[in-house]
Amino acid sequence: MDWGMKNRLSRIIKPRTGHTVMLAIDHGYFLGPMTKLEKPEKTLEPLIPYADSIMLTRGVLRSSVAATIENPIVLRVSGGTSIVGENLANEGITTSMEEAIRLNAAAVALSIFVGTPHERQTLLSLSELVNQGEQYGIPVLAVTAVGKELGKRDARYLGLASRIAAELGAHIVKTYYCDDFDKVVDGCPVPIVIAGGPKLETEMDAFEMTYNAIQTGAVGVDMGRNIWQHEHSVPMIKAVRSVVHENATPKEAMDVFNQAKSGEA
Ligand code: 5RP
Repeated sequence: MDWGMKNRLSRIIKPRTGHTVMLAIDHGYFLGPMTKLEKPEKTLEPLIPYADSIMLTRGVLRSSVAATIENPIVLRVSGGTSIVGENLANEGITTSMEEAIRLNAAAVALSIFVGTPHERQTLLSLSELVNQGEQYGIPVLAVTAVGKELGKRDARYLGLASRIAAELGAHIVKTYYCDDFDKVVDGCPVPIVIAGGPKLETEMDAFEMTYNAIQTGAVGVDMGRNIWQHEHSVPMIKAVRSVVHENATPKEAMDVFNQAKSGEA
């Protein structure tokens, strides 16, 4: 692997622990101004010190994030669909590699939709991005997206989609935690991070999911709603960090959460 590629990856996956807490705020690219992400800058600002990288689109990056930010940027470069449109899987590439370089992105990210009528198009987009990423030393993160079909989140499907992403050259795969997650990790030769998915019922649910994913071999999370839709988003990200980087158990994470919460104004 070339120096630039290695350097960018090590800005995202921290060499000290081999793990990462990525913060995803890219949801508006198909969901619009969803709850708590109406003003991305307001949601993001208190979380910046605790995020190892921030995943977002170029529109929100340019409009809502200061160029002095030090966190590595993972640029969402796929889209072209919406929650009210015909098919969420019908994504294309929205942002060029030159633009990603201009924006000093540490990585680019796109979704693949395995098992849908748009499988081929999204997989070829991944391959093309990897070709360009290898040329310029920019890592590619592939999201094994399920669109509205949340029920697809099982080890058989996610294992298949994750492996295909890795085979086509993705440098990091983002998928969902599921039962038998070890099978997903075992079949995927590149680092895996998990999405949080829709906000879970309790904080403990989020800590347990993170803990189980890390224990099973994920290198971290690329989490959104379970952090920033929480009314105590900073305690949430601090607690998730303790699991990802400090091997905290869910119970210890709960203590971190409660302590941080009691320290809030
Ligand atoms: C959408 C995405 C989101 O970034 C991803 O789902 C992470 O956010 P959350 O933890 O809210 O699921 O890639 O396709």
